[in-house]
Amino acid sequence: MSATAAYPNYSPGLQGVVAGITTISQIDVESSSLTYRGYNVHELAEHGCFEETAFLLLKGHLPTAAELDAYKKQLAADRHVPHHVWEALRQCHSEMHPMDRLKVGYSVLAALDPEYKVPATDGEANRRKADRIVAKAATLVAGSWRIANGHNPIDPDAALGTAANFLYMLDGNRPDEFMERAMDTSLTLYAEHTFNASTFACRVCVATLSDLYSGIVTGIGTLKGPLHGGANEEAMHMLISIGSADKAEAWTRNALANKEKIMGFGHREYRKSDSRAGIMGKLGKELGRMKGNTTWGDIAEVMEKVMWDEKQLFPNVDFPAAYAYYLMGIPIPLYTPIFVIARTTGWCTHMIEQLDNNRLIRPSCIYEGPAPREYVAIGSR
Ligand code: ACO
Repeated sequence: MSATAAYPNYSPGLQGVVAGITTISQIDVESSSLTYRGYNVHELAEHGCFEETAFLLLKGHLPTAAELDAYKKQLAADRHVPHHVWEALRQCHSEMHPMDRLKVGYSVLAALDPEYKVPATDGEANRRKADRIVAKAATLVAGSWRIANGHNPIDPDAALGTAANFLYMLDGNRPDEFMERAMDTSLTLYAEHTFNASTFACRVCVATLSDLYSGIVTGIGTLKGPLHGGANEEAMHMLISIGSADKAEAWTRNALANKEKIMGFGHREYRKSDSRAGIMGKLGKELGRMKGNTTWGDIAEVMEKVMWDEKQLFPNVDFPAAYAYYLMGIPIPLYTPIFVIARTTGWCTHMIEQLDNNRLIRPSCIYEGPAPREYVAIGSR
């Protein structure tokens, strides 16, 4: 008998289990749509900027022009990462993945936060901490990457927003308008996604009354895995190994026949499509045309058709994000860290929501181990 038949209350992977109430975002499975605080992510990505989305998530309403201006200035003022963090990152092993470096970075930042000792139950302090966590993310990703590659971090430029600053801090070149827009859009799309694994992990962490930084480190560790955020890096490695559109159909069919997981496809919540992938795919293909390299978009089209025809599986946002970033010239190990830059907004918002109405998160389990038995002294075993 299968485990689910034996235990009707058991849901592997917590699928379908309602684990909380939120006012932050909503996935509509029927229409495959995603809203942040009621606003469709399509509209936010098309008409707004990442900072507007960050404000919307964290403060609960769309900013006025004056509020957005003030928020951008505040982010600019908070972007700086202290040298203690860079010193700690210089001690890291050169092979360490950038996601693991981010855990180091945020752990050091926690201790340097001016409100480090303020208890997690202080909602106002949490809101201020969240602003600092979000502001420093792009600086941390770019600076830790530069250190790992033997360079010094580049200071943020107060005149640039999050997307442009991140690209600038990677190599010192200010991006053109299209590159900035593409990065900004991806950040908006990656910002928030209900009770996904990393967000839930953040909520579990702070529900013990631990602090926001501990939650962020938990979120980063959870996002790193290839079944979650790490899929964007894996998807690009896969596209590179396929190499050209004429090989894509046979490659995909072969992978399916071997019961391999194809990275960047499928989703726990959506059934027909991931609307974010549509927006990102359009951008990726546009980038391909601009750069005179449509290889990745062409491979993607073939794979998407085979995956739908054979398994009714569709690309999630990680699939097109992978080749969009590749076309932007971003090193592959930075794809999941970019997700972190965006998702610090969703994580912080969820942690604040959790702490504002907290109860320890502690599920039950079914025990299938040995029945109670006598302890045997070590000399008698
Ligand atoms: N490639 C091939 N088969 C797949 C894929 C895939 N990408 N995704 C699901 N399936 C198949 C499974 O093999 C399984 O088939 P079976 O019933 O014949 O055994 C069935 O679909 C159900 O799959 P599960 O893994 O049980 O579905 P679950 O809801 O647990 O997983 C997940 C969702 C993890 C996203 C899954 O689709 C997957 O592993 N995708 C690849 C990794 C990925 O892209 N992750 C990013 C998710 S989005 C994000 O984090 C931003």
